[in-house]
Amino acid sequence: MERVNRVALIGTGFVGSSYAFALLNQGVADELVMIDLNKDKSEGDAMDLNHGLPFAPGSQRIWFGDYSDCKDADLVVITAGANQKPGETRLDLVEKNSKIFKEIVTSVMKSGFDGIFVVATNPVDILTYMTWKFSGLPSHRVIGSGTILDTARLRYLLSDYFNVDARNVHAYIMGEHGDSELPVWSHANIGGRSVFDRIHERPSDYKVEDLDDIFINVRDAAYHIIQRKGATYYGIAMGLVRLTKAILHNENSVLTVSAYLEGEYGEDDIYIGVPAIVNRSGIREVLKLNLDRVEEDQFRQSAGVLRETMEPLVQ
Ligand code: LAC
Repeated sequence: MERVNRVALIGTGFVGSSYAFALLNQGVADELVMIDLNKDKSEGDAMDLNHGLPFAPGSQRIWFGDYSDCKDADLVVITAGANQKPGETRLDLVEKNSKIFKEIVTSVMKSGFDGIFVVATNPVDILTYMTWKFSGLPSHRVIGSGTILDTARLRYLLSDYFNVDARNVHAYIMGEHGDSELPVWSHANIGGRSVFDRIHERPSDYKVEDLDDIFINVRDAAYHIIQRKGATYYGIAMGLVRLTKAILHNENSVLTVSAYLEGEYGEDDIYIGVPAIVNRSGIREVLKLNLDRVEEDQFRQSAGVLRETMEPLVQ
């Protein structure tokens, strides 16, 4: 009997239901169970998605369930919680969202779950740390979406600027998924050619200062989207499906996720956005880039912001 990949989704709000829709359309998992306090919404989503199955690849099962369905899940994806309102930072959500996480993670573990957690709720780095603490699972099996979306935003904007397919743009955002994140320009390249070399060889087309504008647009993207449509959900949902695929299909892909550090980049006992190799075991390895001095300082500052915010919670 072929192995069945089951994903349990906790939270079927904007992000959760967009994730479910993207997961179905990409045919990544065999089973998806949707769990939410709002039973009507969750059950309605499951019914609605089931009616799309004839148009989707593979043979997938989707149903509205409860925490007992987590027992046989390979992955539990948590999107439940409040999202940013206009003018709110992600860190502003820490109080209200950390309160519900203890109950969610405890309920999942009570089912006998022994798989991998993927956390998307903000502030994602802090809530991933708390999920790790509450679950008691090994740190490599608790992964936050981290800066996976920020890195995608950077790659998209660079691909637009240099007029190159985003899949040939290699660039990372590291640090907090939030206002203190940083671009790793020292390793940013277009098909292997440093962005700085690319700029210098065409001074009439490109300017180094434009990179600062591009980064600011990446960092503040969520605020601009929230101002226009009240929330962000498609980008993060597609990033979560990318992460789900890397895990369930044992891809050994490099993704900038929120990973637990044990000395890498000079930081310890923290979850923060770093490039990591992701496969069926969870995080196989954190990739250690040689950051330049500026990037090292920015990364340290970003870790400091997370530690400061987390301090009162881990007392
Ligand atoms: C964003 C949310 C996922 O950056 O934090 O759109």
